[in-house]
Amino acid sequence: MDLRDMKDVILEQAKKYNSFYLYEERGIAEYTGRLKKSFPRTEFLYSIKCNSNPEVVKCVFSQGFGADAASLGEVRMARKWGLEKEHIFYSAPGKSMEDIRQSISECTLIADSVGEVQRIWSVAEELGISVNIGIRINPEFSFYDGNSHPSKFGIDEAQVYELFSRGDGDGRVRITGIHVHLRSQELNGDVLAGYYENMIALAKRVQAAAGSPLEYINLGSGIGIPYGPSDRPLDVEGLAGRAEELFARFRRENPHTRILIEVGRYAVGKSGIYVTKVMDRKVSCGKTYLILKNTLNGFIRPSLARLVCSYGGAANGCPAPCEPLFTSGDAFEIRTLKEDGAEKETVTLVGNLCTAADVAAENVTMPRLDVGDVVIFTNAGSYGAVLSPAQFSSQERPAEVFLRESGEVAVREMPVW
Ligand SMILES: Cc1ncc(COP(=O)(O)O)c(C=O)c1O
Repeated sequence: MDLRDMKDVILEQAKKYNSFYLYEERGIAEYTGRLKKSFPRTEFLYSIKCNSNPEVVKCVFSQGFGADAASLGEVRMARKWGLEKEHIFYSAPGKSMEDIRQSISECTLIADSVGEVQRIWSVAEELGISVNIGIRINPEFSFYDGNSHPSKFGIDEAQVYELFSRGDGDGRVRITGIHVHLRSQELNGDVLAGYYENMIALAKRVQAAAGSPLEYINLGSGIGIPYGPSDRPLDVEGLAGRAEELFARFRRENPHTRILIEVGRYAVGKSGIYVTKVMDRKVSCGKTYLILKNTLNGFIRPSLARLVCSYGGAANGCPAPCEPLFTSGDAFEIRTLKEDGAEKETVTLVGNLCTAADVAAENVTMPRLDVGDVVIFTNAGSYGAVLSPAQFSSQERPAEVFLRESGEVAVREMPVW
């Protein structure tokens, strides 16, 4: 997103809102379009959890994406915004009976445990229906090795074969697809290509155990975006070339098996910024503070990154990423709309919450800002609004502004308390 093109929109919206997200349709169309063009025979699902703003979701769906829904609420959103049940996959641990009851006819359920397969069976029996479901598998490989690892997600691969060896009972619940998601934010195309190879091998093992071809293989996500200055963007076209060849070989023997990839951040992460305003300035014992609107409670990632890195300590370096809460200490830029030649000062950016943890950046040198000026955080299109603890201290919440390619804006104002 080029801030120079956005300056007028940002200033216009800043007259009305003290903090807001700005999402750009053009960027979302560019990123989603690149995936569709690079992987022409693969289906994509949008991981709604990363940004459930209605305009954003509708925009991604309009590019031909289905839905990776992580709750009943997200299943409902996907249905409301036009997707057929064949394009909605509901995968999350710990679904309640009511979640299953309400979603069973609205989407494809992906069972996260053996117990959940049983619970889906109970609901199907209660409703007098038969269902095809998928299972999430915890496979005997990771992105980086060929071992099994304990996980709260999915059914251990060995248990999957036991499930099939028991047969499908009365046929009320048939397992016809698989889902795996092991990690996010991978920028190394070789690692992703190796993961896809492992996934195709897993699909073949599962098919052999099931005795019939799978209807779909959901490869989960992993596709990352560059956040900090040292991140090298993933070569999506190069990865897609290798992956499509691999998938084509599989399809020769399994022409009806759908291959799906989920993405959240790649679709929308680079196409959003967070804009907040300077509400106050003060100097305390020689240190200059700019007090901003809704930092930790509006866009939590900068404050959280600072906090996490401070625990790493100089000796330990920065702790490992823990997506989607923490990527790295430099996972966003802090920008202003002041000219390059403006007077500079060193400031600490804090928010207006009653906690000392509400610090977005410490001792950063930037153009001098006064009360009312804006501060902009980049890379805020995914895991921004949805992750931030907006209820804390009942502040008014950031608005969400969606900028259409036509230049029109659609604003989502959040209700006041
Ligand atoms: C199961 C699953 N799929 C997809 C995603 C989306 O990941 P990303 O935003 O990195 O594409 C997540 C993120 O947590 C996930 O848990």
